[in-house]
Amino acid sequence: MSTIPEESAPTPRPEPHRYRQMAESFGVDAERYDRTRPSYPDALVARIVAASPGPDVLDVGCGTGIAARQFQAAGCRVLGVEPDPRMADFATRSGLEVEVATFEAWDPAGRTFDAVVAGTAWHWVDPVAGAAKASQILRPGGRLAPFHHVFQPPPDVTEALTEVYRRVVPDSPFDLRTQETRSAMDLYQPLFAKIADGIRAVGGFSEPEQWRFDWECTYTRDEWLDQLPTSGALTQLPPDKLAEVLDGVGAAIDALGGSITVPYTTVAVTAVRRLG
Ligand SMILES: C[S@@+](CC[C@H](N)C(=O)[O-])C[C@H]1O[C@@H](n2cnc3c(N)ncnc32)[C@H](O)[C@@H]1O
Repeated sequence: MSTIPEESAPTPRPEPHRYRQMAESFGVDAERYDRTRPSYPDALVARIVAASPGPDVLDVGCGTGIAARQFQAAGCRVLGVEPDPRMADFATRSGLEVEVATFEAWDPAGRTFDAVVAGTAWHWVDPVAGAAKASQILRPGGRLAPFHHVFQPPPDVTEALTEVYRRVVPDSPFDLRTQETRSAMDLYQPLFAKIADGIRAVGGFSEPEQWRFDWECTYTRDEWLDQLPTSGALTQLPPDKLAEVLDGVGAAIDALGGSITVPYTTVAVTAVRRLG
């Protein structure tokens, strides 16, 4: 098993997009999701906008609209595609135009875009079918740019999560232990390779590049525990089991002085649709 650390816990390998129950579970608490999940570096948004031929952006798996609102603020016209109606409803209420569908099944109805982006969502999309769809709807010179947060909580916090998760959910298909032994970036590289391979398999794109943006965020115990239930492995836990997980992780943060600083690298895997 491998981790997708944006979920603070593993997603099933090798094909997370096949786990539809988890893929479309984030709307269980859309308000918490929107309130607690980090936004994306402004420099990443600016670079994608500057490297796209125009302002029309499709945000795949827009969720509650965290990334979409950033692209709107950067001057783009954004359409979101989102399969979970609860997430889509939140995004619509925050002023975004959203169509409810998986990207694979969504009907573009002849519309084309200057950029196709996806914030922490492309791992839930079939990487080849997704790249093929992006290729159909991107204008010549248009940019495909899915991006993910890679983050690494302190080892004690990861160990506490691993230990309590194994105890509370002994029959889980997820094994968090890899998080203890490998760096978050190592754990993510197979995902980034798979995204790039999907783009290459479809053809008609430039060679995929990785763009990386480093930053960090300090969380109090309560702030970290507030966002933890939004992770894919925890969205479906019953309240008593979730409370046990939060207690265990909270105790680890208390032991570290009540707050943690978490380094993040936000990585885009990006390519341009060739002219013609
Ligand atoms: C981790 S959330 C990210 C939401 C948002 N992009 C953000 O940055 O906060 C992943 C989103 O992808 C959506 N999703 C899952 N499978 C999808 C698919 N096949 N096509 C499009 N979106 C999908 C989920 O419903 C969820 O809202």
